[in-house]
Amino acid sequence: MEVVILPTAEDCGRVVADVIAAAVTAGPDGNRPTLGLATGSSPVLAYRELIRRHREEGLSFAGVRGFLLDEYVGLPAGHPESYRSVIRRELTATLDIADSDVHGPDGAHPDPLVAAREYELRLLENGPVAVQVLGIGANGHIGFNEPGSSLTSVTRVKTLTEQTRRDNARFFERPEDVPRHVITQGLGTIGRAQHLLLTASGARKAAAVAAAVEGPLTASCPASVLQWHPHATVVIDEAAAARLERADYYRYTLQHKLPHQPY
Ligand code: GLP
Repeated sequence: MEVVILPTAEDCGRVVADVIAAAVTAGPDGNRPTLGLATGSSPVLAYRELIRRHREEGLSFAGVRGFLLDEYVGLPAGHPESYRSVIRRELTATLDIADSDVHGPDGAHPDPLVAAREYELRLLENGPVAVQVLGIGANGHIGFNEPGSSLTSVTRVKTLTEQTRRDNARFFERPEDVPRHVITQGLGTIGRAQHLLLTASGARKAAAVAAAVEGPLTASCPASVLQWHPHATVVIDEAAAARLERADYYRYTLQHKLPHQPY
């Protein structure tokens, strides 16, 4: 995988936006890509940059379809913290992407197991995802694939760890309001994307980033599955890179990129 270490989170946001913009403008208009969208704070600066380019530079997303990584189980449709609402608020409502082209698991379905299977099928029908944006949990999760997730798992219901519930409590009125269950794309589902683009910033993510990039390929760190993917890019700021042993080599590689070598 390529590890891109940049001074600040804002720099990371610009590079992540560059990769997404390149995918969006690559194909002819009739063949716009499917994007894999992540929620959480990690991609927010990249999303703001995309919105800026849309408004100021005419970057168009017309015809692009977006597929979310995951969703809470049990929040009513339209709940402000459901990931469908979050991605609308933070990205798609401000772009020229039709609401009907933004997909996510149906966390309000009476049977979440059925909703998970339906979502996996919808992804298969609309795939492959051209670029899958990913954050990383402090425990190494991607999507909501908590440690122990099968490396070839598909979309399914997962139970959140208490750490993840605590981490996400900031978005809810009371900590006990954080749902216990979620529907998440599996690690095998995520791995079907053509390009995995993980971004993280801040010291709180440094241990998880080091485990994902330089630790063993293991279900104990779900993000380590990026090591198994033919095209994975990790875009991180200096603080998130602090525990990488090969950081100097990654910087050297970046400095000596060939002129037209994309991420
Ligand atoms: C959340 C999401 C993930 C996200 C991760 C990190 O629970 N399900 O998709 O990448 O945890 O979140 P943040 O970017 O806010 O640190």
